[in-house]
Amino acid sequence: MCGVVGIVSSTRCVQNIFEGLQRLEYRGYDSAGIATLFEGKIHIAKSEGKLKNLEPLLSKLPQNSGIGMGHTRWATHGAPTTLNAHPHVTDEIALIHNGIIENYRELKETLIREGVKFLSETDSEVVLHLLAKELSKGTAMLDALKGVVKQLHGAYGLGVMWKGDPNSLYIVKQGSPVVIGLGKTENYFASDALALLPLTQKIIFLNDGEIGKITASDVQVWDFSGKLLKRDPSILNWSASSADKAGFRHYMLKEIHEQPAVIANTISRLVNFGSSEINIGELGLNELDLQSVRNIIYVACGTAHYSAMIAKYCVEQMTGIPVSVELASEFRYRDPYLNQNTLVIAVTQSGETADTLACIKHAVSKGCQTYSVCNVRFSSIPRACQATLYMEAGPEVGVASTKAFTSMVLCHYLFGMAFAQEIAKGKSGNSDNNLNATDKKVASRVNFAANFEALKVLPSLVDRAINSSGLIEDVAVKYYESLNCLFLGRGPSFMVALEGALKLKEISYIHAEGYAGGELKHGPIALVDKHMPIVAIAPLDLHYEKMISNIEEVRAREGVIIGVGDINDSKLKSLSVDFIPCPQSQDSCLQTILSVVPMQFLSYFIAVKRGTDVDQPRNLAKSVTVE
Ligand code: M6R
Repeated sequence: MCGVVGIVSSTRCVQNIFEGLQRLEYRGYDSAGIATLFEGKIHIAKSEGKLKNLEPLLSKLPQNSGIGMGHTRWATHGAPTTLNAHPHVTDEIALIHNGIIENYRELKETLIREGVKFLSETDSEVVLHLLAKELSKGTAMLDALKGVVKQLHGAYGLGVMWKGDPNSLYIVKQGSPVVIGLGKTENYFASDALALLPLTQKIIFLNDGEIGKITASDVQVWDFSGKLLKRDPSILNWSASSADKAGFRHYMLKEIHEQPAVIANTISRLVNFGSSEINIGELGLNELDLQSVRNIIYVACGTAHYSAMIAKYCVEQMTGIPVSVELASEFRYRDPYLNQNTLVIAVTQSGETADTLACIKHAVSKGCQTYSVCNVRFSSIPRACQATLYMEAGPEVGVASTKAFTSMVLCHYLFGMAFAQEIAKGKSGNSDNNLNATDKKVASRVNFAANFEALKVLPSLVDRAINSSGLIEDVAVKYYESLNCLFLGRGPSFMVALEGALKLKEISYIHAEGYAGGELKHGPIALVDKHMPIVAIAPLDLHYEKMISNIEEVRAREGVIIGVGDINDSKLKSLSVDFIPCPQSQDSCLQTILSVVPMQFLSYFIAVKRGTDVDQPRNLAKSVTVE
């Protein structure tokens, strides 16, 4: 989605704005622009396509300017042309916008009737002219912005530069993320903190309904009624180097390789092997009333949704509490039955996904308890929830989620164990008040000792899964020209199939679908012929024999099996045209963390062979901040 950056500096700003935009590239965009203010005049440079097209135009901007704003646009209203690129300007004002103005048509028609000429097809330009109209009455900028926001419906993170106040930038937040960064002799704003990392780690996360003003030496924040607010910065714990490629060809490859360390860190942070306990404080569970929880609903999108589907298997089994999983974009528009005994859990890497955030707001309004599993500290979703389990996976820049998925699955598993642990202690639960009886029930469901053993060896198994990647490259070379691909799995491996298919289509643009093995006969088997590669995920779990039967059904129709399973599984090997070995966990939910690694590599190598843009695949955005 669109990225915004603004800087007010006592020295030069153009290069830093451009570099800020480069750090926002991961969000996905198709045009870009920068505006500066120098000696009473607004200067702009804009281009279609990627930042490499904008770079040569930077020399046309006044290099000594200390104030400016940049924008990467992910087209929603109007094609990705230079004319539609931001900033939008009048003689007096420059404006950048991330989000969607839902009532822009009505506003535009009124403005056109009043004689305003529009240069672009965007919804954003409406805001520019509304602001110009307010300012033309002699209104101060803060009051003008207060007047404009009253007229807007939708989501917006706005940056505004104005000749009438040449040393300040104004920022408005409603629905779309905007942060303010505090420097020593300059201040910044951006759509996310990652853009500002090398410049500052002191960040003020604006809330919806807030207006900010930055100068080189000062920051002020008001609410939409004009009340001045006291906002202290948070200090980020991400280093600037955690956002670079560290010598890898792509962010995605780097992030795949980071998984053993992320998994090991999460386990050492959340698990106390000495006392065989999960650190429930670190999980934020002390802030929930677990005692009253009678059902759990996960809401999420994309990869996060698939991770939550794995949570259904492990959390429900461990806690004995019914778990359902919903796509955030569906949940928010139906009228789900919710009450104060429902715990709604948002799963999100970015913490900014608009649909997931809307679900949490809805759940809060219904009196539910709310919790999130999230990677980005201080982002909007954790701030809207009662408690959060932070994944601490470090920035994920590649649009295709990798380390966030495995980290989410581990977090769900540990959440389930922690909840079960609390039930066993009699501190929560949905059953009886008799401690011994409760204890027994949990003990019959959860083999804590086995779970701790499985967790202990997990990081080294993930490491092994990563070290088998050479073989996968050979498989990719064989299949990279395929037009379609199916992925099959059963039990928790069904979600690995879904995730494998999503990864492949996202970055290689090959049509791919994931199915539960048992569903094959109910339709998809009609697609199987000798041209159809079928990735069969068949770990040695209780679904193994059933998966083997599904594989036989595919073979009977000449389908091409790429088996993924235990290195010593001679049966699977003999049934596969190609075989990818994968380490095995004793736990079928933790196995998904291992089985998904070959899916990540397969899609990565296929995409590289096809020459697609691995980190910023076409049409996709990292942070989906509009519906
Ligand atoms: O930031 P979130 O986890 O809320 O994002 C959800 C999805 O947009 C995301 O997982 C998306 O599906 C990824 N591109 C998948 O690789």
